[in-house]
Amino acid sequence: MQTVELGRTGRQVSRLALGAMQMGNETPEAESIRILDRYVEIGGSFIDTADCYEWWASPGSRGGESEELLGRWLRGSHRRDDVFLATKGSALPQPSPRLWQGDGSPDWDLARRTFAGAGAGTLRAALDGSLRRLGTDHVDLYYVHVDDRSTPLEETLEALDSFVRAGKVRYLGWSNVRTWRLERIRQLCARNGWAAPVAVQQQHTYLRPKAGLDHTSIVDAEQLDYLREHDDLTLVAYSPILKGVYDSAEKRAAHWMMESYAGPDADARLAAVTSTAAELGITPNQLVLAWHLHAADPVVVPLIGPRTPEQFENVLPALDVKLTGEQLDRLNAAGA
Ligand SMILES: NC(=O)c1ccc[n+]([C@@H]2O[C@H](COP(=O)([O-])OP(=O)(O)OC[C@H]3O[C@@H](n4cnc5c(N)ncnc54)[C@H](OP(=O)(O)O)[C@@H]3O)[C@@H](O)[C@H]2O)c1
Repeated sequence: MQTVELGRTGRQVSRLALGAMQMGNETPEAESIRILDRYVEIGGSFIDTADCYEWWASPGSRGGESEELLGRWLRGSHRRDDVFLATKGSALPQPSPRLWQGDGSPDWDLARRTFAGAGAGTLRAALDGSLRRLGTDHVDLYYVHVDDRSTPLEETLEALDSFVRAGKVRYLGWSNVRTWRLERIRQLCARNGWAAPVAVQQQHTYLRPKAGLDHTSIVDAEQLDYLREHDDLTLVAYSPILKGVYDSAEKRAAHWMMESYAGPDADARLAAVTSTAAELGITPNQLVLAWHLHAADPVVVPLIGPRTPEQFENVLPALDVKLTGEQLDRLNAAGA
């Protein structure tokens, strides 16, 4: 598998990252291990998790199942040194029975209001918990999972810098963050000599957020412009195939993910992706992944989250797709 430099750190990471969010919950252990083994077998190394994955999968859970599973896999496979391991802290909600509604589904509004946040002590405990579950003395990349505006940035940044100096974390990242906050974070780091983020993890796909959408987590035109100007920050794109909606009109029609995209612009881009995929003899999901892999300005590392080994195998041909300049121009120009 091809690699790209993470920011301007000199550290290469694989071009396609693998998310372990569902591993240990929706994806049972044996299937998760098949996916992980296969990912490493084809040359992948960039694996993503978080301390909170997936608290919402079962009432009463405090998350951590994904990290624990990865810890067992790393121990059993002796792969720790082959893997660039990323995890995150700050997005575990305060414990409360009210986090689950009567039907067992999570109350996301309450969760968002009660996220642990990025206070120094909170992050220190979160990181130590992650290291314990992962069974390692360091992670390669540690993200602030959800930007926390109620904690002074100086407090968060000084704590993150201390993690790097203590050798518990190699590189830092931020997720679900506005561009102006990123700029402030970077300025504070430069002024104080603190380790600065080298990766930003955001929701990003071929469809563009619908007109008028105001969303912290989804890359917008301004953020793309900022990232083009700052190639010391790598964009890691989560939900790069939007939960697989590109292959199925039926799934799209019913999927909550489409709330941020549905409209004339999405219709035009879906038509372009569907016809170009047919021309290439591949699936629309594969084409969207190939489109991400061709992104050069800014570079994008798509972070996929296959639920089954079959879904993982199904998207892999995207790694070998070569798009012509004309096809890329056509895809990029499509829109309402
Ligand atoms: N920083 C953050 O806030 C944040 C948020 C979300 C995710 N993440 C990270 O990003 C990773 C990936 O995110 P994601 O799971 O949203 O990515 P994704 O790959 O866009 O979505 C995964 C879902 O897509 C569907 N899918 C995958 N491969 C498919 C295929 N070949 N054919 C048809 N459907 C397919 C499956 O849906 P079904 O289950 O419906 O079959 C699967 O559950 C996560 O594991 C996590 O590490 C981070």
